[in-house]
Amino acid sequence: MTVTIAIANAKGGVGKTTTALHLAAAFAERGLATLAVDVDPQGTLTQQLGIATDHETLTVREVLFDNRPLRDVAVPARPHLDVAPADLRLADADLGLAQVGGGDLRLRKGMRGLPHEVVVIDCPPALGKLTFNALVAADAYLVPIDSAAFALMGMDMLFRTVEEVREYFNPDLRFLGPVLTLAEPRTVVTRAVYDQLRRTYPETFATMIRRSQKAKEVAFAQETLLDIEPTTTGDDYRTLADEVLGRLGLGALADGTRVG
Ligand SMILES: Nc1ncnc2c1ncn2[C@@H]1O[C@H](COP(=O)(O)OP(=O)(O)OP(=O)(O)O)[C@@H](O)[C@H]1O
Ligand SMILES: [Mg+2]
Repeated sequence: MTVTIAIANAKGGVGKTTTALHLAAAFAERGLATLAVDVDPQGTLTQQLGIATDHETLTVREVLFDNRPLRDVAVPARPHLDVAPADLRLADADLGLAQVGGGDLRLRKGMRGLPHEVVVIDCPPALGKLTFNALVAADAYLVPIDSAAFALMGMDMLFRTVEEVREYFNPDLRFLGPVLTLAEPRTVVTRAVYDQLRRTYPETFATMIRRSQKAKEVAFAQETLLDIEPTTTGDDYRTLADEVLGRLGLGALADGTRVG
């Protein structure tokens, strides 16, 4: 059985990709067979895992438009961690998916027969067909929220999209909860946003992801925070991963060991 988690927020730059990447890396570190799926034409997740694409690379585009199973496009990135890559060739996918049959269901169809235990999908900062496909394919979704003014902007639109997904395609889609990112726990803004989050959404994760310079450095070096030691923000993601597995009832699946 595969459990699929979409990482979504209409807002840009809130830590979606960093969260998708590090949750996937933390699941893999726990020994779970994990697949990270990049459905963002920016291809940031793909690049940060050091996967280069060229015109011959099979990508999520071939899953969405050429009926390729995700299984065929997944490439190994770390022990227990595969990635289904994306690049700029996905840039016109929103338009293309609106014009083909079953355009909302194509990612879900591509997931059949996956050997992975956990799938994490990184969504683009928009509520178009790509995010819609991710939500249709997912069992649950998690929303990164940045510690900044207007942090909750766009949540109502995301929820409207989720309601549409539930109504027509995926009635069991579960809201896992919001997670505070780019947190500076000692500052007034971080505390205010976190309090507001907890008041508004009881599902808010207890773990907050701290802002750190290292997060930017590893992205630049095509590493993850879990590849380096010691790392405060990397440990935040390990704790968040355990919280996510607990909520999904998968805590027992992870063997708790560190890989490598
Ligand atoms: N905990 C952190 N500490 C410091 N910088 C971070 C942290 N998390 C993310 N960043 C940086 O913030 C920027 C935005 O993060 P990220 O790419 O994960 O956001 P995103 O929501 O996926 O963006 P987009 O909407 O463009 O896809 C990146 O430069 C990333 O390196
Ligand atoms: Mg991103």
